[in-house]
Amino acid sequence: MTAFLEYFSELYGPRWPDLHAALGREPVRVDRECFGGFARYTLDSASVRAAQALRVRPGDRVLDLCAAPGGKALVLLESLEGKGGLIANELSSDRRRRLKDVIATHVPPGDQALVEVTGFDGNLFGLKQKSAFDRVLLDAPCSSERHMMEDDPSVPEWKESRTRQLAMRQYSLICSAILALKEGGTLVYSTCSISPLENDGVIERVLKKKGDRVELDPDTDDLSDLEHTRCGFQIFPDRAKGAGPIYIARLKVKTC
Ligand SMILES: C[S@@+](CC[C@H](N)C(=O)[O-])C[C@H]1O[C@@H](n2cnc3c(N)ncnc32)[C@H](O)[C@@H]1O
Repeated sequence: MTAFLEYFSELYGPRWPDLHAALGREPVRVDRECFGGFARYTLDSASVRAAQALRVRPGDRVLDLCAAPGGKALVLLESLEGKGGLIANELSSDRRRRLKDVIATHVPPGDQALVEVTGFDGNLFGLKQKSAFDRVLLDAPCSSERHMMEDDPSVPEWKESRTRQLAMRQYSLICSAILALKEGGTLVYSTCSISPLENDGVIERVLKKKGDRVELDPDTDDLSDLEHTRCGFQIFPDRAKGAGPIYIARLKVKTC
């Protein structure tokens, strides 16, 4: 058995055979109408839920810290209904080009004026723009096991040390995201990983180390149809008709 199969079959126990099989199947994507029918964009319905979980309101100042290729940025931008602003940040120049292209082809000209694409290291963003945003989406770089399985179903290259390293990178990014938020602001942390280290593990560390500044959002009615985890919610393809995997946690910055 490969390290991948051994690690996850131990973690997920009797659920693993179904989850493994579902991860290996073609992802289910929705062809979504954006901006009142201006354009269509194809993405996983679980990704739409992650972006909607930020509950962006017209007039908000929004940051999408790791934005390319941009499916979730489109959902955030639509929710602004023409008022407010979105910074779509992406470190990789190649992926930033793709992000700009997605915005140019899928966003009506009037709404394009609300978006600024930036190329900063997300780890430093919070220091550059402290307490500047009402809402921040951190859709973090992650193990993305489903994509790994598309490349090689047996995943011989998978190593536990990689998911541990990614969890450290994610923690650094989430600390930056928290700094960028105003008091009372909302953060959605999402990944497409099935590794609890990269999901609840990151949030538990945040709550332990930054519990004076942030808390889990107690109002989770809009997410109540999803599978609950210790700190957040997940949409995994074995129990969500092929959608996902997506992990979603929502945090609020405390007010003094
Ligand atoms: C999961 S993908 C984001 C997907 C995107 N939210 C969407 O819906 O299309 C994570 C992105 O983070 C970018 N990234 C990785 N490290 C970063 C960093 N330190 N700062 C900003 N972006 C980073 C990666 O290049 C990748 O495009």
